[in-house]
Amino acid sequence: MATILALETSCDETAVAIVKNRKVLSNIVASQIAIHQPYGGVVPEIASRHHLEAINHCIDRALNVAKIDWSDIDGIGATCAPGLVGALLVGATAAKTLAMVRNKPFLGIHHLEGHIYASYLCKPQLQPPFLCLLVSGGHTSLIHVKAHGQYKTLGKTRDDAVGEAYDKVARLLNLGYPGGPAIDKLAQTGNSQAFPLPEGKISLPEGGYHPYDFSFSGLKTAVQRLVRKLEQKTAPLPIADIAASFQETVAKSLTRKTITCALDHNLNTITLGGGVAANSRLRILLQNSTEKNHLRLCFPSLEFCTDNAAMIACAAVEHLNRGYSSPLNMEVQSRLNIADIA
Ligand code: KG4
Ligand code: ZN
Repeated sequence: MATILALETSCDETAVAIVKNRKVLSNIVASQIAIHQPYGGVVPEIASRHHLEAINHCIDRALNVAKIDWSDIDGIGATCAPGLVGALLVGATAAKTLAMVRNKPFLGIHHLEGHIYASYLCKPQLQPPFLCLLVSGGHTSLIHVKAHGQYKTLGKTRDDAVGEAYDKVARLLNLGYPGGPAIDKLAQTGNSQAFPLPEGKISLPEGGYHPYDFSFSGLKTAVQRLVRKLEQKTAPLPIADIAASFQETVAKSLTRKTITCALDHNLNTITLGGGVAANSRLRILLQNSTEKNHLRLCFPSLEFCTDNAAMIACAAVEHLNRGYSSPLNMEVQSRLNIADIA
């Protein structure tokens, strides 16, 4: 039974959590959304500076809420890749310093491994093998989790990540940043059949389409064209119908490819991870399709879909329980394939 304090600062949330095995003792998230909103996206320099200002307070709060002290902590984890380098550096440096000062093992964690582990927080008995649909602001992948620490990417986006597409479409509709939650909410009041939009497909040289790879940039361009066309003849713009039509196309594409991939690889459990896993329509379509195909579906509760440190701590627990820790000279990296983690 390991208790880990972990830090997550890869983007715009300063997050600290304490997890005992798969039980969350505290989960502190200081969001910078309001700070970046006027810029329409995350400004890396501003993100790093705010992580620096918030991190010590978040660590104190995590210990207070968990009602434990340093002697109860077995290891200190931090996201080391991928993400904004300046932002990652704040969390990783704080974690390494604490590990040194408190004489605890340090555990450098891959951000996507954290998103995969978020499902264990809600279903502690979950065991590999399973297929994880990982959908965030920077990634869209179908990952075969073969065993703990063994990952194979079976499908991925060839252009925009799905969260990125949500954020770009939200900007077109003047819905602000981040776009995902705003589109999700608005879509629930719109007609998803109002505008037929193209689902992105990846052609194969031998003919046909890639069964599991995704593409979202064509869909984003189609929404852009639709908005321009409607602006010339309709006022006000039917933004709820556009949002619902976009969301339906995305959720259908993700669901269809995920189910095909699971069936083709004989994987009877599907998990979801990443910020877009919070999407209401995606959750409904996946729930319906997994039931129809007699597959198990496991998704994290909403607070563990978007960036948080509990998922990082949960992955770190697994590493420590297996006798692994990271060297204190481990570097942060803006990009790192999940299959390449040691
Ligand atoms: O995992 P995450 O918090 O950060 C990254 O690792 O990227 O994901 C953030 C992304 C953003 O693009 C945001 O718009 C999207 O997740 N998102 C959603 C929803 N909530 C957050 N997208 C669709 N529907 C939502 N309910
Ligand atoms: Zn994330």
